[in-house]
Amino acid sequence: MKTVNGEKLFKIGMGTWGIGGAYNIRNKPGGIPDIPGINPVNVIKKAIDAGVNVFDTSLMYGLAEERLGKVIGNCRDEVFVASKCGLLKDGSRNFTKKNINDSIVKSLKHLGVEYLDLYQVTFTENDCKHIEGTAEALYELKETGLTRYIGLSISSVDQGIASLNLPVIDTLQFTLNLLDVSVLDLLKLCAEKSVFTIIKSPFNKGVLSGLAGGKSFGSNDSRRDYLTQHNLSLRLNAAKNIMEYAKIKEADLKTCAAKFLFSLLDIGTILFGIRTENHVDWLINMYRDKRFNDDQLSLLVKGSKKYYSDIANTFSN
Ligand SMILES: NC(=O)c1ccc[n+]([C@@H]2O[C@H](COP(=O)([O-])OP(=O)(O)OC[C@H]3O[C@@H](n4cnc5c(N)ncnc54)[C@H](OP(=O)(O)O)[C@@H]3O)[C@@H](O)[C@H]2O)c1
Repeated sequence: MKTVNGEKLFKIGMGTWGIGGAYNIRNKPGGIPDIPGINPVNVIKKAIDAGVNVFDTSLMYGLAEERLGKVIGNCRDEVFVASKCGLLKDGSRNFTKKNINDSIVKSLKHLGVEYLDLYQVTFTENDCKHIEGTAEALYELKETGLTRYIGLSISSVDQGIASLNLPVIDTLQFTLNLLDVSVLDLLKLCAEKSVFTIIKSPFNKGVLSGLAGGKSFGSNDSRRDYLTQHNLSLRLNAAKNIMEYAKIKEADLKTCAAKFLFSLLDIGTILFGIRTENHVDWLINMYRDKRFNDDQLSLLVKGSKKYYSDIANTFSN
């Protein structure tokens, strides 16, 4: 993957779903309400000052694109801006060339930029049949110069493998975290094929960073739909078992989850759902900290595979 100003893209990226505010999809909550007293624009500025140079957003992340747009105008050449399309506000999905072309124009307008660094289409598990047509539409978009690179955000290993057989894809975005390591072989394949990897939901949407600590979600927080108290405790319990299996005693769960990903060398960038300036500071400190050694890493992977079956049914959303 080409770099920003000759520098490598930083391993810590910022995912902006969590700073788009509350919004609805098909009359149901689709985002997270803003944190009182926290200005998302200042959080983005703080991230850039700390060296974060990858920002992932979407036409569907509420106000996230506009908020990002308020900051990046002053430093366009120093940041790598990725957006996405595929999902519509009525909850339906659309992979036609027309929708992809219309969506990027809207995103460019929201962001106040003339081009994106990366444009991606998000697939759910049922969208596999659209991969080839979508890639073709994205490729044409790249030729127009509206985006420098094109990629897919996928939901299954099969989709990933199908994507790697396409000649035109620069990046793949997928979920990887301490609770779900099913994509590790895919990660290696991407490295072999020089496809840049972008990791989403590194804290399992906040479960690994403490959401499960008895906290209940607000009525507008879309995570409450699938992270029921029951699902939260199952996932937390699995995480505890994984850490015990790997004999990780010196770190808490959030530290373990972050270090786990920082220790996996094949990853391109990790989209943390940064929502506060403290989140930025914490991640930078953690990035500078010691990584897990190969033995610890291998035990964490084995532990994760062993306990995944306990929670697999909680990932249906
Ligand atoms: N393409 C797709 O379909 C798709 C799907 C999901 C995600 N994504 C991308 O991946 C990004 C991240 O996903 P996610 O929001 O599910 O992320 P996540 O990083 O797994 O979880 C984010 C949550 O972790 C908590 N947290 C605590 N400490 C943190 C820290 N130091 N840094 C960051 N978060 C911290 C925050 O919750 P509290 O503040 O409540 O503690 C935050 O809401 C999204 O913004 C998006 O760009 C893409």
